[in-house]
Amino acid sequence: MTTYKLLLLPGDGIGPEVAREVEKVVAWFTRSGLAAFETETDLVGGAAIDAHGVPLTEAALDRAKAADAVLFGAVGGPKWATVPYTKRPEAGLLRLRKDLGLFANLRPAICYPALADASALKRELVEGLDIVIVRELTGGVYFGEPKEIVTLEDGTKRAVDTQVYTAGEIERIAAVAFDLARKRRNKVASAEKHNVMKTGVLWKEVVTRVHAERYRDVELEHVLADNCAMQLVRNPKQYDVLVTDNLFGDILSDVAAMLTGSLGMLPSASLGAVENGTRRALYEPVHGSAPDIAGQGLANPIAMIGSLAMALRYSFGLLDAADLLEGAITRTLAAGLRTRDIAGPGANAVGTAEMGDAIVRELQAKA
Ligand code: NAI
Ligand code: MG
Repeated sequence: MTTYKLLLLPGDGIGPEVAREVEKVVAWFTRSGLAAFETETDLVGGAAIDAHGVPLTEAALDRAKAADAVLFGAVGGPKWATVPYTKRPEAGLLRLRKDLGLFANLRPAICYPALADASALKRELVEGLDIVIVRELTGGVYFGEPKEIVTLEDGTKRAVDTQVYTAGEIERIAAVAFDLARKRRNKVASAEKHNVMKTGVLWKEVVTRVHAERYRDVELEHVLADNCAMQLVRNPKQYDVLVTDNLFGDILSDVAAMLTGSLGMLPSASLGAVENGTRRALYEPVHGSAPDIAGQGLANPIAMIGSLAMALRYSFGLLDAADLLEGAITRTLAAGLRTRDIAGPGANAVGTAEMGDAIVRELQAKA
């Protein structure tokens, strides 16, 4: 059996707390003989700043490049809020995304039957919801130059961020979305704002061309990003795969998060180009380091554990193992276990470790 190399980067805040639970699951898979993993752990974010003065060391970056997949917790927190921008905890994650070439961020929004009532929307709108937002991750306004705050001659300030996309960047993210749709319900919606942005005009043009040249079998719809936000709240099940740029993807996926109950439920995958038959990949919960609950054992580990399930599926092709793990999460929720974020007011809640242990017990019960 192949032994897969995992690099675990727990990070800050609740990152290490949810990482501990995913380690239990990884250890269970290796123990059970269903999959074999060799796990290394390193520092990232504020933890790396405290230890080494930088949010990601070159050694950690090399380990990430050598790994079959990276499992990333979360970074950041008030402790590092005054660190210069390029050295902030988040810079560690941005560096990983850039240097591993992780241009496609897959964020599924799945509504577990047991949680349909925890959604911000009515049960009938979200029950059975299963959509994937494909967010472009290495271009757009978070990276475009110039990016600066300048003081003008009259002493007032002016801030600039720049949205830049090349046709090539749009083409490769569109292909990821269409390929994914073929494995699902064969539908892609592409969100931009061509009515007010040049990058939106090019986005729509390139997606239309890629579709016409290579993916005529897939249903394609163009939607303005602001309308898309409305549609996600009005009737989210109309979508299957939703492809969009870095900024709109950041916002729309947070909207999708609320449809499924809690940020603590949402896993994600960040995929790079295929080179020599392998694909660089990083898996992480959508949520951040949650300083408001860090250190209290209250964090929901399901987003992190679900990120491992995505690694099993997309990096290792272990589809049965992925199904087994997703099934264990579904049954744990069906049995009534809830962390505080999904418990609802006044209801009993379990802690991070109890949720992790319960998922491992469900794995054991079905293996
Ligand atoms: P956040 O995702 O950390 O927290 C938002 C809210 O959701 C908080 O009330 C938090 O308690 C709750 N929450 C998040 N994950 C949860 C979980 N697993 N279980 C239960 N509740 C959960 O976002 P926020 O507060 O905007 O950012 C906090 C810090 O995290 C900042 O320093 C930010 O820069 C960083 N951040 C890091 C990210 C990453 O590492 N990928 C992503 C987003 C934010
Ligand atoms: Mg975000």
